Amino acid sequence: MASITAADQDLSSINSYQPFEYDAGLKVLADSSNLKSVPSKFNYTNQPNALTSDSIPVIDFSALTDLDQRSKAIHDIAKACQEWGFFILVNHGIPEELMNAVSRATKEFFDLPEGEKKQYEAKSASDPIKCGNFNVTTTSNQTFTLWRDYLKLYVHPEFHCPLKPQVLREVLLEYSERTRKLARELVEAVSETLELEKQYVDQVLKLESSFQMFAANFYPPCPQPDQAIGIPPHTDPGLFTFLIHNGVAGLQIEHDGQWFNAESPRNSILVNVADQLEIFTNGRCKSVMHRAVVNSERERMSIVVANGPSSEAVVGPAAPLVKRDGRAFYRPMKYEEYVVSQLTKSRLDGKPILEQMKIHDD
Ligand code: OGA
Ligand code: NI
Repeated sequence: MASITAADQDLSSINSYQPFEYDAGLKVLADSSNLKSVPSKFNYTNQPNALTSDSIPVIDFSALTDLDQRSKAIHDIAKACQEWGFFILVNHGIPEELMNAVSRATKEFFDLPEGEKKQYEAKSASDPIKCGNFNVTTTSNQTFTLWRDYLKLYVHPEFHCPLKPQVLREVLLEYSERTRKLARELVEAVSETLELEKQYVDQVLKLESSFQMFAANFYPPCPQPDQAIGIPPHTDPGLFTFLIHNGVAGLQIEHDGQWFNAESPRNSILVNVADQLEIFTNGRCKSVMHRAVVNSERERMSIVVANGPSSEAVVGPAAPLVKRDGRAFYRPMKYEEYVVSQLTKSRLDGKPILEQMKIHDD
């Protein structure tokens, strides 16, 4: 199949979600039937090939706390955020046992009987606990169901968690706290390279009460992986997204008009720059386009934490950067409004919300 250019990809990113239509989980379909082909409602075929690259940045977080290495580490983080919008974080200090415990507990949730999960089916986009599977409409007007079941929880400043499995609450609380701290340190590192005053970021983005979302994605094996997709190309809301998974690859990122497999060494965290960091840095950091592909062999599960500013924070380009650049390249918007718009708004001009925030020259 002819490869698709970067311009085409931009046209086919997610435009709106319809998370309100609950079918029995995809897991049930995949478990119960001997599926030989993908049912037509899942059909999605716009999948340019991905390459493997050994130049995806790897950041050693422990260097940040080493006086001799800190300035180089900070420089490397900023460079990764600007060039790729993505990096592999190692030696991040989150215990492997905790990450495994979160994965196990999340898997237990997906394994609950459908009747148990049904109480959390999404009724509105702003439900703090929701699960199911849903349809997506892309900007090129394709509508299809994702080859994925999800569980989405708002975990900070208020912590929401299903009652079952019981173990989930405890491990998730700790994971949420530790990832928040990590995200804050990364934001600080970025602002240090931008020579912003230390307090400035915390004050403007109100990181003390950062809005943090937890999402677990469950992708059953798919009989025709090139006929369906886990999540089509999109960018995330927030500052930094952290992703870990069960050892089965599937995340791909877009870089210079080409797709790449995001490999992850054991115990690493895949980090991507999200929309509000691009906006806040007036475009210096890039909110990277990414997608999740499926495979026919093994089930895959990813655990995602979207670390945002406070839902009350009005996020626009940082004033000192606007001054330096001569103008703002993005409009400001309250974060809460941004998250809701991304989930519910139908098209304004057919572009994803980050595109709509851009202020063009003319
Ligand atoms: C997401 C996402 C990718 C994956 O949940 O926003 O991009 O590999 N997930 O599961
Ligand atoms: Ni994402």
